[in-house]
Order: sequence, then C-alpha cells, then structure tokens
Amino acid sequence: MIQKPKGTYDVYGEKGTALLEIEKLMKVLMENYGYEYVRTPIFEASELFHRGVGETSDIVTKETYDFKDRGDRNMTLRPEGTAGVVRSYIENKRYAEAKQPIKTWYYGTMYRYERPQSGRYRELSQFGVEVFGSTDPILDAEVISIPVHFYQLLGLKGIKVKMNSLGDKESREAYRNALLDYFKPYVDSLCEDCKARYEKNPLRILDCKVDHDKECMKHAPKMTDFLNEESKEHFRKVQEYLNYLEIPFEVDPNIVRGLDYYTHTVFEVEADIEGFGSNNVLCGGGRYDHLIEQLDGPATPGVGFAMGIERLLIALDLEGIHFHEEGLDCYVVPMDEEYKKEAFSMTNALRMSGFKSDMDPMNRNLKSNFKQADYRNAHFIMLVGEEEIKGEFVTIKDNHTKEESKVKINEIVDFLDECLERCEDHED
Ligand code: HAM
Repeated sequence: MIQKPKGTYDVYGEKGTALLEIEKLMKVLMENYGYEYVRTPIFEASELFHRGVGETSDIVTKETYDFKDRGDRNMTLRPEGTAGVVRSYIENKRYAEAKQPIKTWYYGTMYRYERPQSGRYRELSQFGVEVFGSTDPILDAEVISIPVHFYQLLGLKGIKVKMNSLGDKESREAYRNALLDYFKPYVDSLCEDCKARYEKNPLRILDCKVDHDKECMKHAPKMTDFLNEESKEHFRKVQEYLNYLEIPFEVDPNIVRGLDYYTHTVFEVEADIEGFGSNNVLCGGGRYDHLIEQLDGPATPGVGFAMGIERLLIALDLEGIHFHEEGLDCYVVPMDEEYKKEAFSMTNALRMSGFKSDMDPMNRNLKSNFKQADYRNAHFIMLVGEEEIKGEFVTIKDNHTKEESKVKINEIVDFLDECLERCEDHED
C-alpha cells in the first residue's frame, strides 16, 4: 500500500469542515480589515529563500525541499510565505501604486523538512499577512491584533501574546557586539550550530533549542537594554497602541524569532492550553524594514505575521471547539429505479434554486434511505414515486416535525422556503 509522505496528513470529514470554516472566517476577517488577497507560487528560485529568509536560519540551512527542475534551475518549495510575497511586491512594482500602504493576506501550504511530531509537519498551512510601505508602529499593533481577533472569533481562549524589540540596525549592532563579548568564554560549551551562529548571527544563539537550559543563556545581555532612543520609542508606541485596543501582551526578551529578516517588533502568540505540548507557538511575526532592499527592491518597510493552521486545529480541539458539517436541506428518494431520472432532475432543480440537496443513487429501500437522510442530517425527505409522477406532486417529509405534505411540483420552492424560514424564526 502506498502511504502518504512522512510529516503530511490527509484532510477529510470533520477536519475538512473545520478547515473550510476557518478559511471562510479568514476571508471575512481580512475584508473587515481592508486587506487584499495575494497568491504566489509554491516553488520559487532557491536564491530567494537564501537571501530572503537568511543563510543562518534553521529553515534554510536544514529544512528546505530543494530540487533542480528539468531546465537545471535550482528551485525550492517555499518554507514560508514572506519571501515570496516580498518578491511579488518588488517584481510587480507595487511600491509605485497609488494606494499605500499595500496590505496583503495569504493562505497556503509551506514545506519544511523537519522532524515530524505533534504540531510539527513537513507540509504545513499558514495564514499570514504582509504590510508594505510604512514604519508607523500603529501597523505593528494592527498586525498583532489580527491573529488575536481571529482566535477570539473562533472562541479560542488560551492564548498569550509575547513580544520583544530587536531594534534598528544600530541597536542590533550594539547588541550583537555585546553578545559576542558575553558568549566568547562559553563558545566551546555550546552546540555545533551555536558555534556557527556565534560567527554568523549570535542573536540566534538565544533561541537555540539545544542550549536553551544552559546557565550562560540565563544571564545573557538583553536586547531591550541596547535599544537606541528611536527604537525604544517605536516599541513604546506599539505597546501603547496595543493597550488602546485592550490586547494583553507580555514583553519577553527571549523572543528573537528563527528567521533573519526582523527589525524592531517581533512577536509570537502561544497556546496557553493544558496538554498542548512543546510546539505551542500558534503564530509568529514582526517588522522587517530592510528585507525589500535586501531582495533588490527600493527601501521599503514591512511588517507581517503567519499562523500555523495545524496548531490552531490542535488548540481548537483541546478547547472542545468543534465544527459540524451543515446538514442537507433536502434528500430526494426515488421510490423505484424507474423514477431515478425524475428524482435526479428534481435534485438538480433544488440545487439550482439554492437548496443543499442530494439523492439516493443506489436504489435503496425506503428504510435504509431514511437512515441515509439521518446520516446526512437532512431537514426534508422528498419522495418521488408512481403516485407522485402521475399527480405532478411530491411527498415531502419534514424530518424535524415528522409532518408529511403533498406539494405541487411548481410550489416546491415556496414550500421549502417557508418551512425553512419558519424554522429559522423558531430558532431565533
Ligand atoms: P514562523 O515562525 O517560521 O514564521 O512560522 C509561523 C507559524 O507557522 C509558527 O508559529 C507555527 O504556528 C507554524 N509552523 C511553522 N513551522 C511549522 C511546522 N513544521 N509544522 C506546523 N506548523 C508550523 C514565518 O513563517 C514568518 N514568515 C512569519 C512572518 C510573516 N513574519 C513576518 N511576516
């Protein structure tokens, strides 16, 4: 038997319903925030991720799916969405558009060759936003507010926003030097990756999963002590705006993020739910004011986030938030094989009139069809038999009230509409 690749999963049943509901909500939320949808290719030139995500990030050094296409070009399945969206922004000269800042959102699969475990997949889905063209800290706060609002709408309670500032170039340089001095005596005791990070990007030592319990990590200098006045002011304003929105957050100097492109605000939203496990970061993001130049675009600031949908599903499940498939309005039953054509045509007419409808395709007897209608959670069962065809009517059984009615063919739509309306009024 051929099995799915390691670290991937199939979607069907309740998970499919949940995903579609989540996708629907994303669309409504992003319309409310005034963001536009953007879609970029699943594979891009490998160079984009090397230069975009960063040569020292785990994602690029260990986790990319790289391949050569038949034209001998080096390609990579996207490990995240930001680099591709930035490439598209530059390539399509979106910086020259009248409408600014450009606010975009995306949703799609990403690929990382990670060790699969709960909350960690090799094919993962992210919902994210990227905003281009403004350094204003109000946008950092807006970007943080989106996942918080989204989780609230889904009814998720156990979330915690943690954030930090990595400052501007000058602050980062001062901090980098302080880290180099501080870690110098400890380099030999660090893991092999951290030894390389010491040379290339010492900041990344702080989010090492191997060394994080070591004593020297606890006393390392903190970024927030090295912020220059401008960076401090930016971070202060982000916090002020979040307070205005009444979004609770915690400043955590250990949030440095695993990607190299960040400046100023970085944040993560954690699942604070019992039993979640260690891969509990539901969402991460921040500001990246130099990435666009780094990828050969004009100097343009950016800020964004991406959330993992698989981890969101785990969180919803743990909090007992489930999505159920909506039932059918009408399940059509031909009383005999010879009435199948009429039943098919009626089902079609119902679908075209906007009723969620299906029919029995398998010539089952009445009893098992009533069972099927129950499995499908159908509100009405429509019977089509000899008597009905001759008399140009159908028999409609209301599965809620158990009432049976004979309805003229040309009155079916009005009849169903009325019943459904009555039912909605009743529920209100
Ligand atoms: P990231 O932190 O690498 O950031 O990923 C964002 C989210 O994707 C994580 O918080 C997590 O929920 C989910 N995720 C990451 N890897 C996996 C995995 N292997 N399995 C399941 N879920 C995973 C980014 O990707 C940045 N592009 C975010 C960003 C956008 N920054 C600015 N704009």
